[in-house]
This record gives sequence, structure tokens and C-alpha cells, in this order.
Amino acid sequence: MKLIEAKDYHEMSKLAAEIILKQVKEKEDSVLGLATGGTVLGTYQELIHDFKKNKTSYDHIQTFNLDEYAGLKKEDPNSYHTYMKINLFDNIYIPVEQTHLPNGEASDLEEQCSAFERIIEASGGIDLQLLGIGQNGHIGFNEPGSSFDSKTHVVTLAESTRKANSCYFASNEEVPARAVTMGISTIMKSKKILLLASGTQKASIIYDLFHSEVTNAIPATIIRKHADTTIIADQDALSKLNQAKRYA
Ligand code: GLP
Repeated sequence: MKLIEAKDYHEMSKLAAEIILKQVKEKEDSVLGLATGGTVLGTYQELIHDFKKNKTSYDHIQTFNLDEYAGLKKEDPNSYHTYMKINLFDNIYIPVEQTHLPNGEASDLEEQCSAFERIIEASGGIDLQLLGIGQNGHIGFNEPGSSFDSKTHVVTLAESTRKANSCYFASNEEVPARAVTMGISTIMKSKKILLLASGTQKASIIYDLFHSEVTNAIPATIIRKHADTTIIADQDALSKLNQAKRYA
């Protein structure tokens, strides 16, 4: 696992965007795995900035998002469809039919999960998967206890995750109880993984990511088994890890 230490959120975002842009430029029909949340927002702003400046082409890029809330309409302001449209897709002119997110409003969510897996496979597989990390170690919405063999599936969100994400909703109660997420085995099939972490609220989980055994009690630990994983974390997220190093 390669660890890149960034000074702050801004530097983390710039470095992450550079890695994504390298992928897009080296393979113009790259398949990108994308994430949502506060951590990756700055990275998307950097990609938009680059697009305005350099007109990097996304004409042949395909994207697959990690997850979507169940029961929210695509147009809902809190859906990840809306997040991606506003924060990235509409600003880099990627053809909408090349962008894929799980459909959380499908009447048959199980069938929707299988269909999502089939489209990923038909695309040739994900070249680079961008990940954030939950404070409890979730990746996508694979909560503690998720099977490492899981494919795209429906999950019940942990109360701590609903609370962490409630800042985006009018109230705690409005955060959906369920979501559709790419599974851990789906994520692990990506050719490269890029995980970002920022802020003191991630310091404890970043410490665990390096020091805990690989266990599904902390789903993110599985990425240690991937042959090509890069982590970019800022000083706040690294504070516990670096403090432990100093006293070692
Ligand atoms: C959310 C998303 C994840 C995201 C993570 C961290 O619940 N489902 O894909 O990576 O939790 O979010 P944030 O970056 O806002 O801390």
C-alpha cells in the first residue's frame, strides 16, 4: 500500500486529481469508479478546473459510482445522482449514458444490483476506483461485518453512518435507512484503488487501516490485500498514525 502524505485538504485534492487525470490521459476509454461525500468534492473541483483550462476529453470515459441511497428519486437533492451531476458530470461534459450509478428507486433492487454488476463487467472492469472512508471503516456503503465476497447489494445503513451523513439532510430521520452499494469483491476487482482521507474525524480509522488485522469488522482493511492501492491522506487524518510513529 502506497501512502502519500498531503499537507491539507487542498493538496490531497490536487494530488488525487493528478492521478485521475494521468489515468484519463493514458487510456482515453478508461473506466473510472467514483465516490461521493465531502472528501472527494475537492478532487472533482480540481478535475473541473483542469477541464476548463485544458479541455481534457471525457468523451470515451465510463464511470461507475459506488453507491446510492435506496428510495430516493434520482432528482432528489440528496441523491448521489444529483451530487454527481452537479459536482462533476455537468461540468466536464461526459456523455450521460456513460455514467452509471445504482438505481436506488428501482422496484426490484436485487435485479438492479445484478444488472449493475453486468454493466461493470461488460465495460471491461474498473481501471481506477476512487474511495473515501467512513469513520467506521466502511467503503462505499459496505458497513462493518460486510462479506469480503460481496457483489453489488442492498444494505441497511449503520446508525453511525446515518448520523455522519445527516448533515446533508434536513434531519437525522430523513437519511434513508438503506442503500445500494458496490460490493467489496467488486471494489477489489478494480485494477487500481485510490483512497482519500481528510480531517481529524478520520485519524482513528486511518490508524486502524494500517494497524488492525485485515478484518470485515473494518471493511477498508481489505484494500491492504490489493496489489495497487494508493492512499492520500492529509496531516489531520494522519495525526494518530504519525503520533504513534513518533512514540514507536
Ligand atoms: C459515505 C459514502 C462513501 C464515502 C464515505 C465518506 O457514506 N457512501 O462512499 O466515501 O461515506 O464520506 P465523507 O467523505 O463525507 O466523509
